[in-house]
Amino acid sequence: MPVVTVVDFMGEVQKEITVEKGTKLLKALIDHETDIVHTCGGNAKCTTCRVTIHKGVPTRKSQAQQELFEKLIRFGQTQFDHPAIFLSCQVIVDDDMTVSASETFNRVLHDSPGKDVEYKITPDPVWLDHEVPDWWGID
Ligand code: FES
Repeated sequence: MPVVTVVDFMGEVQKEITVEKGTKLLKALIDHETDIVHTCGGNAKCTTCRVTIHKGVPTRKSQAQQELFEKLIRFGQTQFDHPAIFLSCQVIVDDDMTVSASETFNRVLHDSPGKDVEYKITPDPVWLDHEVPDWWGID
């Protein structure tokens, strides 16, 4: 089964989660009590569940994520133009990966971590190829 390693911004390992292959990343993180915000309930609408994937970047991304990121980039939020930034609610865990959460409930001011999150990807995903450049990733 794949292992998701959660690291902080300094790269320090916070936890290792063994998950069923095919699990939605955000659900795996929540089920293992990882501090991550998910304001829209995992519907690719808010970006609070975004993660940086340091290792094991998926080779596909959902069209819903792509469209949201394109819109945000058009409004000047260029941080979304990065090959390792993903919405964890739009990621299926197929292999080992190392991730860090961008917005945690403890660090960012939110009323609550967010709405309940389903096990399946919502909206129903249309998958697009995702190019992972050679220069990305830590060993
Ligand atoms: S985009 Fe809102 S929880 Fe993922």
